[in-house]
Amino acid sequence: MTESMTNNLSKARTVNLAFTGASGAQYGLRLLQCLVAAGCRVNVMVSKAAQIVIATETDLKLPGTPPAMQKTLSEYASAEPGQVLVFGREDWFSPPASGSGEKAPLVVCPCSTGTLSALATGASNNLIERAGDVALKERRQLILVPREAPYSEVHLENMLKLTRMGAVIMPASPGFYHRPESVQDLVDFIVARILDHLGLPQDLMPRWGEARVTAKVDRNDGFGQHD
Ligand SMILES: Cc1cc2nc3c(=O)[nH]c(=O)nc-3n(C[C@H](O)[C@H](O)[C@H](O)COP(=O)(O)O)c2cc1C
Repeated sequence: MTESMTNNLSKARTVNLAFTGASGAQYGLRLLQCLVAAGCRVNVMVSKAAQIVIATETDLKLPGTPPAMQKTLSEYASAEPGQVLVFGREDWFSPPASGSGEKAPLVVCPCSTGTLSALATGASNNLIERAGDVALKERRQLILVPREAPYSEVHLENMLKLTRMGAVIMPASPGFYHRPESVQDLVDFIVARILDHLGLPQDLMPRWGEARVTAKVDRNDGFGQHD
């Protein structure tokens, strides 16, 4: 790493990114690529179930140990050395594990209903749950991207509880008004919304009102037709 790269990284914004075992590994992986491209330093945490989901849903071969995972994810995201750091499930000495660690937002993407429940109750049984607990107690930005269908009363109660505590629930429910032509377009829809909430620039999707969305509704009252 050159001296200027080290300087740039030391000034870089840090984002904590946790992958858990909900379907939608693509959202988290795309987010990682975008955070790296935006010049962020990314502290990554991966649950055991997330490893299984990543293997099921993608061609990425994610090895088991944090150093090996770090190498694979750094290559995947074309990161500079040291830009992507992976922390183990019980790495209680890592920055995301303590309120006195670097102040950084946490995005759990995708977020399983299991982790949702742990965060709603403060379980803190692994680094991801602890990082969420720290974000809540320190009033830091916490963005959760749950995916389940349908949601049970427990899931909904947990989401309500977490929203009231300050977390943003960003369901993996892409819109279709941008006329997606690929799975990538759907993934980018959600990733763009996350980047917006993190205050990072993104050009994955035109902003509402910038590119005209054409309504195709066949109405005769004049309201359905837009140019
Ligand atoms: C292929 C696969 C898909 C899954 N999809 C979901 C899902 O969409 N939502 C969910 O909440 N759990 C899902 N699960 C179950 C979670 O992985 C499981 O509850 C796990 O204990 C969550 O642990 P974690 O929160 O530590 O990652 C899935 C599991 C597998 C193997």
